[in-house]
Amino acid sequence: MLVLEDSGSETMALWSAQRPLESCRTPAHDSLLFLLLSFKWVLLSRAQTADTGQGVMTPRLQRTSQDLSWQRSEPSIILPRALQVTETTLESGQNHLNLPAEKACPSGKETHVVDENLAFYEEWELEACVDGALLTEQMDRVNAIPFTYQQLDIFKHKLDEFYPQGYPESLIQHLNYFFLEVTPHDIHKWNVTSLETVKSLLKVSKGRKMDAQVAALIARYLVGGGQLDKATLDTLASFHPTYLCFLSPEQLRSVQQDVVWTARPQDLDSCHPPQMNILYSKARIAFQNMSGSEYFARIKPFLGGASTEDLRALVPQNISMDIATFKTLRKEVLLPLTIAEVQKLLGPNLVELKVEEGNSPVRDWIFRQRQDDLDSLGLGLHGGIPNGYLVLDLNFREALSGGPHLLGPGPVLTAILTLLLALILN
Ligand SMILES: *[C@@H]1O[C@H](CO)[C@@H](O)[C@H](O)[C@H]1NC(C)=O
Ligand SMILES: *[C@@H]1O[C@H](CO)[C@@H](O)[C@H](O)[C@H]1NC(C)=O
Ligand SMILES: *[C@@H]1O[C@H](CO)[C@@H](O)[C@H](O)[C@H]1NC(C)=O
Repeated sequence: MLVLEDSGSETMALWSAQRPLESCRTPAHDSLLFLLLSFKWVLLSRAQTADTGQGVMTPRLQRTSQDLSWQRSEPSIILPRALQVTETTLESGQNHLNLPAEKACPSGKETHVVDENLAFYEEWELEACVDGALLTEQMDRVNAIPFTYQQLDIFKHKLDEFYPQGYPESLIQHLNYFFLEVTPHDIHKWNVTSLETVKSLLKVSKGRKMDAQVAALIARYLVGGGQLDKATLDTLASFHPTYLCFLSPEQLRSVQQDVVWTARPQDLDSCHPPQMNILYSKARIAFQNMSGSEYFARIKPFLGGASTEDLRALVPQNISMDIATFKTLRKEVLLPLTIAEVQKLLGPNLVELKVEEGNSPVRDWIFRQRQDDLDSLGLGLHGGIPNGYLVLDLNFREALSGGPHLLGPGPVLTAILTLLLALILN
């Protein structure tokens, strides 16, 4: 996409912006994300100005500038989309290289209906004689005739060529079994506003390995403002819950309790704190009958939604929390824990604190402790409050140490420094 062809430092800013979005579970990350988003807006409008200012554009640039205008209407998902658009550009570039030279449709083979005869066409003949408009119009017949996988692949390719910006909703409504041909990547280009369409595609997907496609479909529907009803949420329960983080807290509340039994840690990676809170409550109820270590093994992926009290309840259970899990705890939840509590919570894994000494949230927790007390652990932890000192503004200190990504591009750093300065002067 155009922005990526811009100067190197701006490109870096976009890529590093990707990370906070996926892992933003703290307010500090949220505000950083906000800054980066604002920065991205500047870039986008700059990119557009550049487009209109230049007389000559390559087809690739024209295409990406259309993609940009499409993005603008959906600011809430602007970053993930930016990545997808880049992938599209790369992939379609490859497609062009792999395609054989276009051949004309042999005379007598021209077709205006999708019928059984097509099943006997050579692949190159299908490629030459069938077009996206015909397939769109007669998608019902495509699904009714037993085409081979290779033939369906060609149809898919013809449709992708015909709709480089994504299939129109009128076609999506009639996709039926052809939905099994599409990738999550394709789906992320779609607009899906009809719950009936979602339901029909879920029905087709049931019992097939379509979890990623289903997650993408649900994401597109929700991004467009769609509401899921109880029946649909129940249907969703039969898919692997890769879609959880796309659901709003309200929708998560209505999701069946069982979902916490099948959710894997990576399914929760991009969930925000309000979503984690709800998933954690569900998990706590679902696993309540389990004992100490068994319970901990189950509840582990959900602990990002736990409160300080929940963690304190785990302290006497000798669970020996691993440091990877400890890192997923929310900073504000972790900060009030005492050294003795953390020592008991981590058990033999306490030594791992040293490795994480420089990273949030361990770093933030260390800042809160007295250095003397840290020294008593004998781990060589640094960064505590020196003996006899009183640190007045911990938040300010934490903001200053806000991670390496702040030191990237000039404008962002300037914006942050300006903000800090404004705070100090007030
Ligand atoms: C999706 O909707 C937007 C806004 O209405 C529109 O600009 C875009 O072309 C639509 N995309 C597809 C694939 O229909
Ligand atoms: C927990 O166990 C009790 C009694 O054994 C049972 O009544 C209850 O339904 C169980 N709760 C869950 C969530 O499984
Ligand atoms: C935890 O360990 C301590 C000391 O080893 C022991 O006294 C206590 O009973 C254990 N608690 C549990 C819940 O296993």
